[in-house]
Amino acid sequence: MRTFRDPALMQRWCRERKLAGRRIALVPTMGFLHEGHLSLIEAAKRRGADEIVVSVFVNPVQFGPKEDYATYPRDERSDLAKCRWAGATAVFLPTPENMYLPRHSTYVNEEDLSKGLCGARRPGHFRGVCTVVAKLFNLTHPDFAVFGQKDYQQAQVIRRMVRDLNFDLDVVVAPIVREDTGLAKSSRNTYLTEEERDRATAISKGLANFRSVAKLRRDLERAGLKVDYVECVDAGTLEPRKKPGKGCCVLVAAYCGKTRLIDNVVL
Ligand code: PAF
Repeated sequence: MRTFRDPALMQRWCRERKLAGRRIALVPTMGFLHEGHLSLIEAAKRRGADEIVVSVFVNPVQFGPKEDYATYPRDERSDLAKCRWAGATAVFLPTPENMYLPRHSTYVNEEDLSKGLCGARRPGHFRGVCTVVAKLFNLTHPDFAVFGQKDYQQAQVIRRMVRDLNFDLDVVVAPIVREDTGLAKSSRNTYLTEEERDRATAISKGLANFRSVAKLRRDLERAGLKVDYVECVDAGTLEPRKKPGKGCCVLVAAYCGKTRLIDNVVL
């Protein structure tokens, strides 16, 4: 497994691999890898990638000033071991300084699907995500890129960006990986105490037994969670839907203690 820190070297390697006829998959991550990320590498293998490039980069541009950029969990050594074990062929570990050169002033803004949900609560978040993902696409020339369904809105926004900007690649969305309790795997779960972990399962339980937005919100509040949003939207357009049913996605963001968790289900 190769490791690259310099974007130019990463780009050159991918270009050479591509010219050699190899099919490249990109798995973009912010590191602190868990089974959810490993399932993305698995999905890349299953789809026949010859080269699986995992990027590990905590992207400062997608965090708000009051968010957890500084404390976001990082463990490079463990990430490298997990990538090797899972079958990645290259890992890209750039620094913020070499991803964002002095006077960086170009950003990618998706202006429709980014408006609501997390986009409304985290101003600038999807601008940061789209910008870094567009850069990663340009640096790795993937035939396809794999994202997790846990970040449902993110996956839709990236699909739209790929379509609108004519990136020549497929976006693959892999199912949510859950703990035995139902809690969706997330690097941020590491912030939770044992007691919070228990209470956080109200989210996946509520989604699995979804009846109405009002009931789900009540159940989350009863479990002591602070609801950021519970919304039922059209799974494609992300526009609010009054009547939940086929083709809808129900999305939750809620604070368990200080930790903001997200989860969703497509009906
Ligand atoms: O989902 C994530 O971990 C990040 O938003 C991504 C796609 C790696 C961009 O930084």
